[in-house]
Amino acid sequence: MYINFWYPICTSEELKADAPVQSDLLGLGFVAFRDQAGAPHVLSNVCVHRGGALSKGKVVDGGIACPYHGWRYAGDGRCTAIPSMNGDKPPARAKVDSYPVQEKYGIVFAFLGDAPEEERPPLYEIEQFRQDGWRESEVMIVNIGAYYQRSVENGLDPVHNQFVHPLQGAPAVKMDQLETSQMPWGSKMYAYMGQPEVGKTRMADLRGKPEDLGAGSWHYGPNVLITSIDLSAENNITQVFFEAPVDESHTKIYFVNLRNCMMDPAMDGKMRDVNLSIVAEDQRVLENLFPVRTPETTTREILIGGDESVVNYRNWLKKWENLGWRMDTRTMRDNYGDIAYAIPCPGRRRSGNWVLDPVPLMPAE
Ligand code: FES
Ligand SMILES: [Fe+2]
Repeated sequence: MYINFWYPICTSEELKADAPVQSDLLGLGFVAFRDQAGAPHVLSNVCVHRGGALSKGKVVDGGIACPYHGWRYAGDGRCTAIPSMNGDKPPARAKVDSYPVQEKYGIVFAFLGDAPEEERPPLYEIEQFRQDGWRESEVMIVNIGAYYQRSVENGLDPVHNQFVHPLQGAPAVKMDQLETSQMPWGSKMYAYMGQPEVGKTRMADLRGKPEDLGAGSWHYGPNVLITSIDLSAENNITQVFFEAPVDESHTKIYFVNLRNCMMDPAMDGKMRDVNLSIVAEDQRVLENLFPVRTPETTTREILIGGDESVVNYRNWLKKWENLGWRMDTRTMRDNYGDIAYAIPCPGRRRSGNWVLDPVPLMPAE
């Protein structure tokens, strides 16, 4: 798992005006709440007084009050009031990590890391979102009992479709139909589908000439996966999965589906059902992979031509590890329950004396 990327924290819908939301991510807890202007804030969930869970507290005057002794924190993470101190100024050390936030696509995202602004990867831009000729779904949430990298690798893998999704009429893919390429913060794969058994699938009538039929997928950062299905030269369905690694064996997926065909709103429910049944087919395989997490060395697997995009993804992960962005989850596991860690927020570069230990990271190259 990696710091310094944008992660989905909750849906906009979930985050009401007056109630905090707890979000578990990267093996840690976060609290989200809205201030009086409705702007979302995301903080580390651990109160630095004596460990209260802020998410179990209340939103008061646009800040969050700890449920244990009422310490009040503003959206920037500073403790603004300690009720038992009779109006004395809280100590300077009374602050929790507060993360940059963006609310987009019906999702509240936080940048979990301390990289300076100019070094941060931007939040993924969905070009088609609310564009003329495109229709997007509501955000769909899928919780799976699998590690997020396994899930992203599955999305990048064109070969599994034929075996895992036969009901969708997914055709066989051969190596010579695959193209892979690099892009900023990620890599891409496109597979020409050739001649599927037309007539077998629900979307068969939208299909154009066989040479226009194909599907691509790409990852952006470690946790965003996009698939783009060309049913014909004009008809496209794009699926964007913002994956929140809850911990090392659970993932909460925020899924937005966009299409420029079957635009009738009456088709929304049908699209949703088809999409979710495809996800369920993947889920059955992913939740039974072993080891749960991708092996550290490629000698523990046999990677062949069809796995090229998986290899490209892993190479990117290695680059981010070399930057010093990979969390040392083994040490975190060893200290679980003894040490409260926080992902360092950008504010840690401006001031010192923080109470919580920053998460341990693998050494940079
Ligand atoms: S633990 Fe939060 S106020 Fe005491
Ligand atoms: Fe799949």
